[in-house]
Amino acid sequence: MKILVTGGLGFIGSHTVVELLQQNFEVVIIDNCSNSSEDVLDGIKAITGKSPIFEKIDLREKEAVAEFFRKYNDIEGVIHFAASKAVGESVDKPLLYYENNLNTLIYLLQQLSSKESASFIFSSSCTVYGQADKMPITENAPVKQAESPYGNTKQIGEEIIGDTCKVNPQIKAISLRYFNPMGAHASTEIGELPIGVPQNLVPFITQTGIGLREELSVFGDDYSTPDGTCIRDYIHVVDLAKAHVVALERLLKNKNEENYEVFNVGTGKGNSVLEVIGSFERVSGKKLNYRIVGRRAGDVVVAYADTSKAETILGWKADSTLDEAMKSAWDWECKIRNEAQ
Ligand code: UD1
Repeated sequence: MKILVTGGLGFIGSHTVVELLQQNFEVVIIDNCSNSSEDVLDGIKAITGKSPIFEKIDLREKEAVAEFFRKYNDIEGVIHFAASKAVGESVDKPLLYYENNLNTLIYLLQQLSSKESASFIFSSSCTVYGQADKMPITENAPVKQAESPYGNTKQIGEEIIGDTCKVNPQIKAISLRYFNPMGAHASTEIGELPIGVPQNLVPFITQTGIGLREELSVFGDDYSTPDGTCIRDYIHVVDLAKAHVVALERLLKNKNEENYEVFNVGTGKGNSVLEVIGSFERVSGKKLNYRIVGRRAGDVVVAYADTSKAETILGWKADSTLDEAMKSAWDWECKIRNEAQ
């Protein structure tokens, strides 16, 4: 069965491609390599022994998307990762974000609308909840006014899919609302490859640990949490990748109850920034150089998932602990920096 994975050379995309290949799906990757590298294909081959089909296409080119679906008219499912994801950059370049994240989604759904049936998985984010009133966050928590154009593209994206499914019952879709992905494949063949200075906590920590950055700035220790630093739900990227496979299988086997569904994908546990640093120090045996600085604009205080819907309905649950995920992130960092020397 042929599955299109857009953004399949990216961080979460590449780990999902591995899981799909290991479940014997045929995978076609579309990626424009704007934030990824074709070398990732070698990592995927090293792990799975298989080479997915790769098409270097920019999904903002509507005609190229149509041409792709003419060539591969036997695609039965689409997992759509391709998108821009830097919150700060989205504030500076809103139109780029709306174009990258929404035009591409529309062009894909237009193609699926003319098929007899199609399954679609969308990369959404816990950012749609903003600062939720209650923890853990269930899927019924209200979607709050987005804090950034990036967050808005996820909210609007979900609405576009919901509206499309209402009038195209042959399209079945699931949005997965990711909490904070981290880590790398245990083989260290694939992992996160942030370009430039990492914006996210874990790659910043591992790059500081390896000596690429001088120190980590911890954004605020005066929040109303036990140690004063913000709390998030950090999920191992391999667990997250597996959630895509079970979500896709639900749709392909027509087990979905509605043709548009939403699931949280997290661990259900919250960890503070200082706890994440503690985990790094435990698994690496190194002291991390960090300093407390002022709060970062737009940060929510606490966000962690209620994962019972995914557990009950998808039969999926995250397996890895924070330390296991951190160990994989650290092993990956050590490997890529050794290779770079
Ligand atoms: C946010 C969104 C997430 C989105 C992601 C995109 C929420 C709850 N989460 O993640 O859905 O996909 O942006 O990038 O809205 N921190 C530091 N120092 C650093 C970096 C981070 O102290 O150098 C802290 C932050 O203040 C935060 C935590 O680490 O408390 C995690 O930050 P980050 O990795 O950037 O992810 P979120 O902002 O939670």
